[in-house]
Amino acid sequence: MTTDDDELLRPARYPRSAAYDPAWLLRLDMGPHPLWLLEDLARDLRLLPGMRVLDLGSGKGASSVFLVREFGVEVVAADWWVAAEEARAVFAEAGVEDRVTAVRAEAHQLPFEAESFDAIVSIDAFEYFGTADGYLPYLQRFLRPGGQLGIATPALRREVRELGSVPEHIRQVVGWEAVAWHTPEWWRFQWEVTELVDVTAARMQEHGWDDWLRWSRACGDDAVTRMLLEDGGELLGFALVAARKR
Ligand SMILES: C[S@@+](CC[C@H](N)C(=O)[O-])C[C@H]1O[C@@H](n2cnc3c(N)ncnc32)[C@H](O)[C@@H]1O
Repeated sequence: MTTDDDELLRPARYPRSAAYDPAWLLRLDMGPHPLWLLEDLARDLRLLPGMRVLDLGSGKGASSVFLVREFGVEVVAADWWVAAEEARAVFAEAGVEDRVTAVRAEAHQLPFEAESFDAIVSIDAFEYFGTADGYLPYLQRFLRPGGQLGIATPALRREVRELGSVPEHIRQVVGWEAVAWHTPEWWRFQWEVTELVDVTAARMQEHGWDDWLRWSRACGDDAVTRMLLEDGGELLGFALVAARKR
């Protein structure tokens, strides 16, 4: 990686993330840059030292390392595709193994006590398991009253339902999966209608499209880069949604 690349991958709008080596993040990559998403999402959360936080769909663990280091919280990193041993090695190498517990878990069968977390965060994962009507009611049982839920998830600025189909440039790359890429307003309604949580923020990430493009180029992901360029920021980006359990 050249010095220019290194600077490009530490944008000033994410000062906390800029302290993390882009080469380390590229090694753990599973999609968009997880720390830029989490740093932005965290602006709508209140994470305090000692809180117990579930990182749901934590992948190879970069976001869990960030949560420990930046906010002093205790983390349970739960993921389905990545083995707990693989995540544990990442936590040990980062020197946070005493603050993070790695668990292999499916999002609909979480092995936790009711009301055992102060916060649940999910970075680029909720779109795979969290869109069914019953999911928020299921998940919120693991939060203490007043506990927070925050997600960063790929989003379209208009619902696929409203567009009539998945737009061609998106369909070619992700197929039907984009049906789960809902607008922030969709998430707000979906969660608030349950009367189980109060949504405290629901927004398109301001630089979501250009961050995604910047990172897909760094990863050499030509298909995603093409999709984003063709989109031009018209539809694609990330929804950042935060809520508090009643
Ligand atoms: C695109 S990766 C993102 C990983 C990580 N959060 C990051 O940003 O690098 C999506 C993650 O969602 C997790 N995931 C997908 N379906 C899941 C399910 N049903 N239960 C738990 N995790 C799931 C996968 O294991 C995967 O690690």
